[in-house]
Amino acid sequence: MIFGVVEEDEVREIMDAVDALVGKLTPILLFDPRFHVAPLGLGPWAKFKAKRDRLDGLIEALVERRRSSGERGDDLLSMLLDARYEDGEAMSYAEIHDELVTMLVAGHETTSVALAWSLYHLHRNPEALEALRDELDAAPEELAQRARMPYLKAVCDETLRVTPVLPDIVRVLNAPMTLLGVEVPAGWCVGVAITTIHHDPDIYEEPDAFRPERFIGRKYSPFEFMPFGGGHRRCIGAAFASFESMMALDVALSEYAFELLEPEALVPTRRNVTMGPKTGVRMRMLGARERRA
Ligand code: HEM
Repeated sequence: MIFGVVEEDEVREIMDAVDALVGKLTPILLFDPRFHVAPLGLGPWAKFKAKRDRLDGLIEALVERRRSSGERGDDLLSMLLDARYEDGEAMSYAEIHDELVTMLVAGHETTSVALAWSLYHLHRNPEALEALRDELDAAPEELAQRARMPYLKAVCDETLRVTPVLPDIVRVLNAPMTLLGVEVPAGWCVGVAITTIHHDPDIYEEPDAFRPERFIGRKYSPFEFMPFGGGHRRCIGAAFASFESMMALDVALSEYAFELLEPEALVPTRRNVTMGPKTGVRMRMLGARERRA
């Protein structure tokens, strides 16, 4: 939990503000600082800043309230407020703010895009959907056991393989590096193209096909399967994201039936940092479903 116990309305307000902010973070603003200008207070940068100010205001009010009340809980904000550097100094407001925004933005859009892709792939591959429902219907009710369903985990992995939410990761070189015989100077960025690796036919047979079975009984190396990046900066939310995705799919598909409204193939497009279906995945809920005995 990021903020601990807060009113439901407040959570909704913060998540709406995160959605609005991420919605204004177009690729051009993200990747080209020359567009960080707002002539006459207008344009995309001005709109982005307005959304950022709104989220900042909400976070500031929450942090201030918690700071002044001294109230603590089992949540990230409490941990950040109580954290001390080696010299005993507490974190500044700016540092706490940045940690909170990172967790909100990094954790929210990524998992929702992954879930949208899972529902999309499953409904375009009825055999995979049936195999998953067989597993969901037969699994025991205990959460710990449901979180270990192998086919459900394979569906989440295969989703992130075929349609990685982050298509690449980059590092800025602190020192020069020889990469495949090419001298790359310090200060340059080098990147790993996750999507290219995930679609390498030498690693994955029929790489464009959605086949969760390929993850059953087979573990790919961190150099073959890397939806959460790798090395020191590997996603810190990876385990949580996998658990969250599995549980959300479990509830949605055990309890309800859906249909895809647009049968044609969706093309991943750059939304902001993430790659996802440009207009979302449009689906209709057909109603509650009965579990098979
Ligand atoms: C399906 C969901 C997710 C995907 C695909 C994903 C993917 C990634 C990737 C590829 C990176 C970059 C890693 C690298 O540079 O090697 C990353 C970083 C990060 N992720 Fe995630 N992520 C997901 C969910 C989450 C969640 C739920 C959280 C938080 C609760 C989170 C928090 C972060 C943070 C804080 C970083 C920066 C880590 C650092 O620079 O040290 N992510 N994520």
